Amino acid sequence: MWRPLSAIVFLLAIVNPLAEASRLSSDQLQLDDYLDYDGVMQYLDQLARAYADRITLKDMGRTVENRSLILAMVTNGDGRLGKRVIFMDAALQANAWMTPVAALYTIYKLVVEFEENADLLADFDWHIMPLANPDGYEYSRKTNTRWMKTRTPNGGNCNGTDLDRNFEVGFGLGFWEIRGPCEDNYAGYAPFSEVEARTVRDIMHSLVKSERGVMYLSLHKSHRSVSYPWVYDSTPVPNQGEHIEIGKFVADKILESTGKAINIWPGIIYGRESGGTSIDYAFYIGFPLSFVFNNGVFSTTSKIRRVADESWTGIRAFGKKAIEKYPPSRPIHQSEEHRPTKNSASRNWDLAPVVGTTTLLFL
Ligand SMILES: *[C@@H]1O[C@H](CO)[C@@H](O)[C@H](O)[C@H]1NC(C)=O
Ligand SMILES: *[C@@H]1O[C@H](CO)[C@@H](O)[C@H](O)[C@H]1NC(C)=O
Repeated sequence: MWRPLSAIVFLLAIVNPLAEASRLSSDQLQLDDYLDYDGVMQYLDQLARAYADRITLKDMGRTVENRSLILAMVTNGDGRLGKRVIFMDAALQANAWMTPVAALYTIYKLVVEFEENADLLADFDWHIMPLANPDGYEYSRKTNTRWMKTRTPNGGNCNGTDLDRNFEVGFGLGFWEIRGPCEDNYAGYAPFSEVEARTVRDIMHSLVKSERGVMYLSLHKSHRSVSYPWVYDSTPVPNQGEHIEIGKFVADKILESTGKAINIWPGIIYGRESGGTSIDYAFYIGFPLSFVFNNGVFSTTSKIRRVADESWTGIRAFGKKAIEKYPPSRPIHQSEEHRPTKNSASRNWDLAPVVGTTTLLFL
């Protein structure tokens, strides 16, 4: 009896350290160049195989060019289901190349450097979509660095819709550019005409319905800033103070670690309303917190590491404060003062398509 047993013990003794070592070397995120779509998928697969207890990948749908829309669901592996969720997406606007890096780096921090970040996963899961617009991302990487949109043919000579104008709240409001199929900010022929926007919408709805969605965080590329709803209207959201408090906490952490100041403002641009954004939609359907985090304009490859670190400092601060503000003991939707008023939410567009799922929350 002892022979096979000791053989097994012996085997375990060599195999374990080897497995551990291979885990560590392959788990580093490459930060000296941007990954392409395949590279992003490979890295996610690698982590999902090595850390099956902490990260699960879900294929949420296919783009026009048949790429996967992957959602990475990160948990601490304690097996507790139904935890509250922070939902983050990146590169809705395709040429925000730094944002998938920031999203993958966040996944790396939460999964591989789990011990240092366990506080962010005790009562919350993180659902992260590192490439929300993979067709546009590949096109911007390989063909046109200015490309922001999807690649859906528009019927004429121009392709693509700006996903951050394709959501339903205030659809079609704003600068004239959103109506031109050849423009960078083309909103699409109808709300949710794009499969990428529908996919993000469906994730949001399922998180709201199950009363799990606390914060939506959309990573964008613009000068360092934090913005919050509304973008389609100048009325302040009922819990604007809470949004500003969290934004300030993020700004302080970034200032402490990098010396750089960042702005915090409502999403409405230069006093001009802009409809169809994802943050307005998330807030409208019931995420009590909804933000765009801009982590800087186009970065040369030599700066990727620094921007990734800075983005993580910000994202960690968002998570920490949101978790502190919404402990499991605090209801997500019930608080009267946090509901969008019907007036502000319904002023400019047809409510009918979303009213079915939101009736419970707002009526
Ligand atoms: C889309 O991709 C999947 C998996 O890569 C493949 O099995 C399928 O045949 C593709 N579909 C089309 C229409 O190309
Ligand atoms: C638009 O997309 C179609 C289908 O992918 C492609 O054949 C066409 O060349 C694209 N047009 C432009 C102007 O990029």
